[in-house]
Amino acid sequence: MRVLVLNGPNLGRLGKREPAVYGYTTHEDLAALCEKAGTEMGVEVEVRQTDHEGEMIGWLHEAADESRPVVLNAGAWTHYSIAIADACAQLTAPLVEVHISNVHKREDFRHHSYISAVASGVIVGLGVQGYPLAIKWIAEQ
Ligand code: DQA
Repeated sequence: MRVLVLNGPNLGRLGKREPAVYGYTTHEDLAALCEKAGTEMGVEVEVRQTDHEGEMIGWLHEAADESRPVVLNAGAWTHYSIAIADACAQLTAPLVEVHISNVHKREDFRHHSYISAVASGVIVGLGVQGYPLAIKWIAEQ
């Protein structure tokens, strides 16, 4: 099994970006954490990040065509992108939506997700630890 971990806009700046909200783990550290979880669970994990919506949609199409499970943190797109949600709706393998921060404790505009309705499940507010948890859950399916 190959799991795609897809991170959206501004997540490449983890570690530098609002550390009080997102912590000090860099995207590189996060990728290592995900790969370690994959090794422990015996699944291949590939981590990607983009600030470009079209590129993210292309990766989701690839996951749909290859029936690959996805862990997705769509960042701000979560809250307004019907195009990302439409791409997620085409996935046939499990999709876990992850948010590092507890979006429900934050501004109202972060309370709604277009992705949750098409996700298998959602992990919110557990910091970067949400990613290995999502990978472990996927590996057990
Ligand atoms: C986020 C929460 C979003 O509201 C925000 O736009 C992000 C990160 C999170 O991981 O907590 O970019 O998805």
